[in-house]
Amino acid sequence: MPAEKSPDTEDISVREMSEYRPLLHRPVRKKIIEFERDGRLKHVILATQFTRHLLDELCDLADMVRELASDPEGRRKLSKLLCHLQAMMYFTQPSTRTFLSFSAVCRLLGIGTEQVRDSTVSSESSEGVKRESRFDSIRMFSSYFDLIIMRSKAPDLAECCAYLMNELENQDFNTRNIPIINAGSGADQHPTQALLDLYTIRRTFRFVDEKRTSRPRLEMLGDSYPHLTADVSNKTYAFCGDLGRGRTVRSLVELLMKYDHVSMVFISPSHPKFQLGEDLISRLRDRGIPFEEIDSLDACLDGIPILHQVDCLYMTRIQQEHNNQEDDEFFASTDMTNYRLTPERVDQMRSYAPILHPFPRDSVAGEIPTAIDSNPRAMYFHQARNGLWARAALLVHIFNADRALTQAYREHYADSHDFNRAVL
Ligand code: CP
Repeated sequence: MPAEKSPDTEDISVREMSEYRPLLHRPVRKKIIEFERDGRLKHVILATQFTRHLLDELCDLADMVRELASDPEGRRKLSKLLCHLQAMMYFTQPSTRTFLSFSAVCRLLGIGTEQVRDSTVSSESSEGVKRESRFDSIRMFSSYFDLIIMRSKAPDLAECCAYLMNELENQDFNTRNIPIINAGSGADQHPTQALLDLYTIRRTFRFVDEKRTSRPRLEMLGDSYPHLTADVSNKTYAFCGDLGRGRTVRSLVELLMKYDHVSMVFISPSHPKFQLGEDLISRLRDRGIPFEEIDSLDACLDGIPILHQVDCLYMTRIQQEHNNQEDDEFFASTDMTNYRLTPERVDQMRSYAPILHPFPRDSVAGEIPTAIDSNPRAMYFHQARNGLWARAALLVHIFNADRALTQAYREHYADSHDFNRAVL
């Protein structure tokens, strides 16, 4: 008799996760308290955990890490901050940037790392009929490491792992409650990507990047854009592409909702699956945040092309890997050029408006052709590099090393900065 097919490990975790369903379906405000300890983040699961105040703090810490990392003595100081820690990188869904930037950042801060990227070579392997559960894996990691950074295609798995850690905290199960960082879960959340996106937006609108001489300076823009301010607030943010299945968009929208006088434009194919989810749409409505949903980069609002009006354009790829046959047919019959940038479209944008993309971009579909990479508005490679500084700041915060970092920074720049006057 042929052996029964072993279930996929993601299926196993979905089954295990069912006991956490009542916790998953609670209001967000009740959940996020459980992801904190002593007034700081413990588990990082949802973008909405980042308050405005915390975002400011993290961006300031990220600036300090960025500066210290720019010379050998600064790097030596950084490498001592968290050198007592070990991290597990548990990435069972593919990743380039998130995995590598967290790995690089751990090294920068002195944290040792190990990894499981392919569960078929761990004891979760269904081929090898060991079939260890995801939750037992997490408990094992917590025996050996001080932090778990995890990505999975199973939605909510990271959140359930945080509940597991909390649940076992006060029980005599020899399980340590170590922080869980969600490095991308299903199509739902990617909080650390949102953090680096926000950090990039803040830096871009502060017009502080001296190295990018091709970018216009704020003082040069006053005549053309008299209402332009040097902050994240008071801006129109446009998102283009697969907005229904893009977790980076969902998480960044959550963060931008926390800023004043922000409006948003969502540009996607007219199909509920690819438009921003109803949950976020109702939150935007409840908060009175103005937004528009349109179906082409060439659309006009109030008779003016949308590209003339936006302060920032966040492009995304169509997530083909989630397509079923119906989706393939829908895309085949849809004019997808409406969701691709061209040099002519970019020329219509405000001269200072950054173009962002979480990456990977689709080299075949070409939502951002490489011809745009040298345009001063293209900020997506800077955005990816900012993942280092934003993620380092997050680890510094979680492990209560912000004071040590500030002290190291002040010592390092004692001769060159006037700390009574300087704004980082
Ligand atoms: N933006 C992002 O999450 O990239 P990776 O999938 O390469 O980690």
